[in-house]
Parts: sequence; C-alpha cells; structure tokens
Amino acid sequence: MNEILNYYIETWGCQMNEEDSEKVSGMLIPVGYKRTTDKENADIIIFNTCCVRENAEQKVDGNIGALKTMKKENPKLVIAVIGCMMQQDGMAKHIIKKFPFVDIIIGTYNAYKFPEYLKRIQNGESSIIDIWDKEGNIIEGIPIDRENNIKGFVTIMYGCNNFCTYCIVPYVRGRERSRKPKDIIKEITSMVDKGYKEITLLGQNVNSYGKDLNPKIGFSELLMRINNIENLERIRFLTSHPKDLSNEVIEVIAQGDKICEQVHLPVQSGSSNLLNKMNRHYDREKYLELVKNIRNTIHNVGLTTDIIVGFPGETEEDFAETLSLMEEVKFNQAFTYLYSKRKGTPAYDMLEQVPDDVKHERFNRLVEVVNRNCAIRNKECIGKIVEVLVEGHSKNDKSKLTGRTRNGKVVNFEGNNKAVGTLVSVLITDAHSFSLIGEEI
Ligand code: SAH
Ligand code: SF4
Ligand code: F3S
Repeated sequence: MNEILNYYIETWGCQMNEEDSEKVSGMLIPVGYKRTTDKENADIIIFNTCCVRENAEQKVDGNIGALKTMKKENPKLVIAVIGCMMQQDGMAKHIIKKFPFVDIIIGTYNAYKFPEYLKRIQNGESSIIDIWDKEGNIIEGIPIDRENNIKGFVTIMYGCNNFCTYCIVPYVRGRERSRKPKDIIKEITSMVDKGYKEITLLGQNVNSYGKDLNPKIGFSELLMRINNIENLERIRFLTSHPKDLSNEVIEVIAQGDKICEQVHLPVQSGSSNLLNKMNRHYDREKYLELVKNIRNTIHNVGLTTDIIVGFPGETEEDFAETLSLMEEVKFNQAFTYLYSKRKGTPAYDMLEQVPDDVKHERFNRLVEVVNRNCAIRNKECIGKIVEVLVEGHSKNDKSKLTGRTRNGKVVNFEGNNKAVGTLVSVLITDAHSFSLIGEEI
C-alpha cells in the first residue's frame, strides 16, 4: 500500500461490541491502517451497532444518513456497518435500501472477515452483505488492539440461551458458545506479559460457562485456574444471572485472592409477578436470599444491578416492590432502563404496555432511590484504607489520579504519577454520589 489509510470506528452498546471493535482494529493495524478520531478525514468509517433499545435505530440511521454528502465528495470513502443491529431480521436490507452507498454490512458472527471484504471493496466490488442466520465456530487467534493497557476485557463465552421476554440479545448473538479454557488462559497470560494488571471476563451469563464444552468445566473451576496466573493482579467478571450463580462460585470469589469482591447481579424487577413474566427463573425471595448468601460469604462485596422500569403490565404495586427491594439491598450502583419494545421478543406483543408518562415518572422515582443509596454506600467508606489499581488521571481534575477499589468503586485521589498501572493504598477522605475522594498513603 502506498498511502496510509485512516479508519474511524464508532462503537455503541456493551462490552461485547467494544471487544469486537478492538478485534477489527487488531486486524487492520498490522496490515497498515491507522486509527483516527477525525471522522471528516477518514478513508474508512465503521459503525458497530447495538439494538438492545429502540432509539438505537434512529441513531444509526442518523449517523449513516449524515455520510451521504461525504461519500458524494469522496467516492473512495468506504462505509461499513457491523454488529448486533445488522443481525436483526430485515435490518441489513433496510439499511442498504435506504442508504445504497453503504459498502459493507456484517453481523455478529463474522466480523473476522472484515479485512477481506475491505480489500474486495477497494478492488471495485459494490456492497457486500454477510449476515449469517446461524452461529458458527468460535474463531480463535484474532488479534485484539485494546484501548487500555492496564485493564482489559476477555470474552469467555458468546451468545445467550435465556430468552428473557424483553431482550433481543439471544436473537442477534445466537446460542451460548464457551471458549476453551486453554484459549482463555493463553490470552490472559499474554496480556499479563504485556503488563496488564486486571481482566474482566465477559459473557451474557458467565455462570453457565463451560456447560457446552467437552469435557464440561464450571465457571468456578475456570476462575480458580485464572486465579493461578502469575503476575495477574485482579479478576472481574460480567454478567451473573441470579438463577445460575452457585454457592461454589460464591465460595471461589471469597477465596481467590485475585478475584475482586464485586458481583453485578441484574435483578430487573422487585416483583415476583413481573420476574415471572420476564422469564427470569427466580423470584423476589430467591434473589434476596442470594444477596444474603453473597454478603455473608464475601467480605466487603460490592453489589450492582440492572433494573427495567415499565415492563408490560407493571402496576404501581409491582413498582413499589422494586423500590422496596432497592431500599432493602442498597446496591453500590444500579443501571436503570426504561422498558423498550423490541420487535421479535415475546414482550413486544404483550398487552398492557405501560404509558410513557407513567414509565418516566416511575423512572425518576427509581433514580432518586438509586442515587441516595449509592451515596450512602460511598459515605460508609470514609476513613477506610482501600486498595486502588491506578488507571490514569481523573478526567475532571487532571492533577488527581483515578482508579477503582477491589469492590468496584471509583476513587479520585492525590498521589504520585509514577503509581499509574500499580496497586496503591488510599485513605478515603470524602465521598460524592458516584465517586470517592482520597489520598495515597
Ligand atoms: N446478559 C446481561 C445483560 C444484557 S443487556 C443480563 O442478563 O443481565 C443489559 C441490560 O439491558 C439488561 O440487564 C436489561 O436491564 C437491559 N435491557 C435489555 N433489554 C431491554 C429492553 N428491551 N428494554 C429495556 N432494557 C433492556
Ligand atoms: Fe438478555 Fe436475559 Fe440473555 Fe441477559 S440473560 S442477554 S437479559 S436474554
Ligand atoms: Fe451488547 Fe447491544 Fe449487542 S447491549 S450484545 S451490543 S445488542
């Protein structure tokens, strides 16, 4: 290649998509492309899409539409749209019909083919669409260009088998496929060799890891093996489905010295009636029992959750149960979502959709409770000494360092610049709603 071509990549959605984008970068950089943050002057523009919520479609349409003039002025510009939304029924056709200037559309199972398709477009081929309707084998060995060099994500399994009635993920990411433990360990070991200190294991439901492997292996066994990797400092993981979080895993979290005391345990609703309609396979009592068990076993554990407001049929009584569960558990943090209708999911056709104004009003009440409890949890830390992995400088105050405690709280503190990338002890002197303040000791 005579000239260096710049690519711009924008990623929406969760860590799964972020990792896929890092793989696209990992494949492009070694063959001579350079990443740019300047969209206007890019030679290749890639949108990696999410479809978990409704407004995502308008966002994608708006972003592609805005490229029409750019493409007219520079016909050599390559435009690619990839990721979860492309995997939705009829979406690829819709995009190419509405925006015929899009060059490449790929779904979630075959992003590894991106460089090959790019070459074909550059050689004069017109639009390439590659959406599979069935998940294939896991492709190992794709290089990953991670954005951070202190902590990184490692996918341990793809897909989801749970079919919660509101959720589109199983339709766009396929069934559960676990990576082999040896491939996971190899990847983490090579990250540690490059200086990584913390890894977060990713899967839609990490607790069902390994059930599809031969020989079978459980998530607790995988955690123990990773805990033995030398020079790795911290292990986190996302997401734990409450129906599958076993006592064994809870014990391993408590015992593994590198496994951080943090569990993201989406409850979705405090009402057993709604949990049943959501197809979550646990009820309020079971969830609260699980929380008790976790707190009794894992010292100083940080619990976080996800909540959906306004699921079809949610009554004021159901919502009051969500609020009371939040008051009872007092999570460190909760991610709150307005229920969003997703075509193709069972909840889409449920009668009794909750009116928007009711949803918003409940949402505001929920956020008030979440924030208040988060502030209470943070205040409890004042005066304590915590271990922080220093990730860099605080965005809002460059004179301060920033990092996280083992149980997942953000700490901004005064300390030595040389500490970036290391573990330090910090005395917590003050607390805001979403972060702690401290000084290195
Ligand atoms: N596999 C994970 C995360 C899935 S997506 C889990 O089971 O928890 C992340 C969050 O998005 C979910 O926990 C849920 O709270 C939210 N979500 C998914 N589909 C949604 C929808 N249709 N409307 C609103 N929120 C949704
Ligand atoms: Fe969606 Fe439920 Fe699977 Fe999570 S467990 S990805 S919420 S279907
Ligand atoms: Fe994630 Fe969105 Fe896909 S939440 S799995 S990027 S639909």
